[in-house]
Amino acid sequence: TKYVWLDVDPGHDDATAILLAVHTPNIHLLGISTTHGNAPADCTALNAARCLLAFAAPNHIRVHPGASKPLLRPAKHDPEIHGPDGLGGVEGLPAADSPEVLARFAQDDSGATVRALDGMARAVKEAAAAGRRVTIVSTGPMTNIALFVAVYPDLLEGVEEFVFMGGGVGMGNRSAVAEYNIMCDPHAVQIVLDAPVKKTMIPINVTHTAIVTRQIHAQLLSPGTSLDNGTESLPEPATNLRHTLSTLISFFADTYKSTFGFNDGPPLHDALTIAYVSQPELFQTSRKRVDVELGGTHTVGETVVDIWNYQSCDDTWGAGGKNCQVAQSLDVAGFFDLFLGCVSRCDSV
Ligand code: BDR
Ligand code: CA
Repeated sequence: TKYVWLDVDPGHDDATAILLAVHTPNIHLLGISTTHGNAPADCTALNAARCLLAFAAPNHIRVHPGASKPLLRPAKHDPEIHGPDGLGGVEGLPAADSPEVLARFAQDDSGATVRALDGMARAVKEAAAAGRRVTIVSTGPMTNIALFVAVYPDLLEGVEEFVFMGGGVGMGNRSAVAEYNIMCDPHAVQIVLDAPVKKTMIPINVTHTAIVTRQIHAQLLSPGTSLDNGTESLPEPATNLRHTLSTLISFFADTYKSTFGFNDGPPLHDALTIAYVSQPELFQTSRKRVDVELGGTHTVGETVVDIWNYQSCDDTWGAGGKNCQVAQSLDVAGFFDLFLGCVSRCDSV
């Protein structure tokens, strides 16, 4: 079993990462923190709570709201891809202002909200007391994780690994070379990359292979369906959950088509982090030196991956070392088996 803390900015694909984190059998989800990113921080926190409710997560899994802005740069949201509130077009979620959504935020004994850093620190301390280490997964800008590294260096021994979706090897999606999550808070990412903890980066080179095709969309709506040719209409949703996920995929497919020209379907970027934690054998990885461009005129937010090992780095995971495993490829069929299995398990709760 892997003990996981999940930091997210939901976000359509973040929502699928939450679904996997809750319903993957060998993952024990300890808690969720949220960050500015795809939408403003108040929206992403509410969205995480809406997802926990819609995905029948056990009641002890709570939302811990985190950073509302990056360390240095102004906040940058992405309504073009995710809609103004981060989960545009998704039907069947509880309303953001419903009492059960607010009740999903973590509270201390006095009724005050427990925020991201405190929640993460408590989870790592409690796990350590039980002889366990925590995998901290990030699917948005890394401000909360950088603050955790800076504020709690003594707790880093209790972190098994940082796993993050972000960056690209020689490619970007929000500039020619910068991927969105890294571009939002590049300084935070460099702080995390310099931390003496194992790291795995899932870049867009790999996430762009996890496409929800019409064939997979059909199976999502109704298990066992197969479209014989691309022109058939999609089946009716077998359950409310499947309807919700179908509206999520359709909205994301439309924005990925209009913004990036993805014609076959949208990539489920963020869900790959949980797939990696659960089944690392689905990925090929290679350990490299990775830094972030912090000052370039055209390249700020680029992940600089030393693929030819130009720098002489030691074997540590921190500042002087080959600091990061970089995912190179994915067993796409294996990933979608895991994804559809989680949907079925969620359906039968
Ligand atoms: C990343 O940016 C966001 O749009 C997604 O949620 C994902 O985390 C992909 O570049
Ligand atoms: Ca995200």
